[in-house]
Amino acid sequence: MKILAIESSCDETAVAVVEDGRKVLSSVVATQVEEHRLYGGVVPEIASRRHVEAIEGVTAEALNQAGVTMDDIEAIAVTHAPGLIGALLVGVNFAKGLSFATGKPLVPVHHLRSHIASNYISHQDLKPPFLCLVVSGGHSHIVMVEDYTKMKIIGRTRDDAAGEAFDKAARTMGMPYPGGIAMDRVAENGNPLAYKLPRPTVDGCPYDFSFSGLKTAIINLIHNASQKGETLPVEDLSASFRYAVVDCLATNFIKAAKDFNVKTLVTAGGVSANSLLRRRLEEDCKKNGFALYMPDKKLCGDNGAMVGSQGYYEYLDKNIANLSLNAVATLPIDYR
Ligand code: KG4
Ligand code: ZN
Repeated sequence: MKILAIESSCDETAVAVVEDGRKVLSSVVATQVEEHRLYGGVVPEIASRRHVEAIEGVTAEALNQAGVTMDDIEAIAVTHAPGLIGALLVGVNFAKGLSFATGKPLVPVHHLRSHIASNYISHQDLKPPFLCLVVSGGHSHIVMVEDYTKMKIIGRTRDDAAGEAFDKAARTMGMPYPGGIAMDRVAENGNPLAYKLPRPTVDGCPYDFSFSGLKTAIINLIHNASQKGETLPVEDLSASFRYAVVDCLATNFIKAAKDFNVKTLVTAGGVSANSLLRRRLEEDCKKNGFALYMPDKKLCGDNGAMVGSQGYYEYLDKNIANLSLNAVATLPIDYR
């Protein structure tokens, strides 16, 4: 079954054609990152406008690269939540138009579920159940994936998402948006023990995260130094900050796996491209005898292929929308 999948939740207009949830026939991503970089972060109104301009061309290119026409497509999947509302609406309305014009079923896809599904493309043998660390620019969750469309949140961030913390700390160090990627690169040349940073925990909730205190600690360190006319080495700052964030993520994730007796661990979302997080989880999982699955780095960020993969399993679970489908800015991953 071939699905045309559309993603427009943030600053990437992405469309893919995916067969049976696992085989990517095409995946086209038009990124707006250069334009948002001018402002140090995503400007929602600009994002919506660029999606409107790009979506038709990206769709035509995805069909072309897959060597198919709309006649070969059996369903249209679209990210409907969560994300920037104006950005989501562009994809949702475009998908509704296609569904109306062709009579093909419309499948709503939750953005974080699709991040998890990027693993079904990278690892053809992977099947639920498993425990997933979902870490993106807007979310940090530990999710029990009981089945393709049945999940439970075990832990969550109480404030900033990991990606958001990376981006804000990196911005203070003068790095371009999205700073998480830049900081990861710079940190490779620094000493992770140069600065002692806190490892915030949440009382009574051992699987929850809190990154805002950590972010404030590094920002204060930089500001205090600059008030004294000093400049701290960005390599050491980056390495120490990255180490602290990764330590919090890995510690809670591994604890959850042990406590819930799960032996298959999976990561998803933009931050799962982080080099230290990948190395650390590889070590921890080896030590504990856990199987670890992480998406290919090119599938960690937003793309249409992951929407096509999750869309297939949502379709099998009869999650079909009618033409009154709306975009939703916030929606829990276990909404259905
Ligand atoms: O999943 P994603 O592409 O979009 C959202 O759904 O939010 O995640 C984007 C986030 C950004 O905060 C970006 O800085 C972060 O993922 N990111 C990274 C790395 N690559 C992307 N953070 C740390 N290290 C990386 N290598
Ligand atoms: Zn995302």
